[in-house]
Amino acid sequence: MSAELVRAARAVQQQAYCPYSKFRVGAALEATDGRVFVGCNVESASYGLTICAERMALGAAVAAGARALRRIVVATDAEPPASPCGACRQLLAEFGLDLEVIAVGPRSERRWTLAALLPDAFAKASLDR
Ligand code: THU
Repeated sequence: MSAELVRAARAVQQQAYCPYSKFRVGAALEATDGRVFVGCNVESASYGLTICAERMALGAAVAAGARALRRIVVATDAEPPASPCGACRQLLAEFGLDLEVIAVGPRSERRWTLAALLPDAFAKASLDR
């Protein structure tokens, strides 16, 4: 149920470590078995080392053995709600393009499939020679 996921994403958004951008992001990723994994963005004084909330949540899922994923909620204070960056789309694609992606902002939400956000994705099959 996505109301619970939105709550989880909003809660972890408060943990974001983002002293440089001050742009808080929280992500809650639901596996097909119902487990929920969360992540927030973590920035560095060496800016390029920043980790996005979505990839943090994905790492938590994979570390727990969850690779079959149903949906991800990304919570920001942006309006319209901010969609996942290209790097996060690509890493999420590793585990399936059917993932539902829900971006929530203060006043509205947007929904896509990952396939819609990453058309003609580079994938495992792309490595076939
Ligand atoms: N950020 C995310 O956490 N996820 C995204 O999909 C896009 C951007 C973070 C990185 C950085 O800490 C801040 O938002 C501003 O770019």
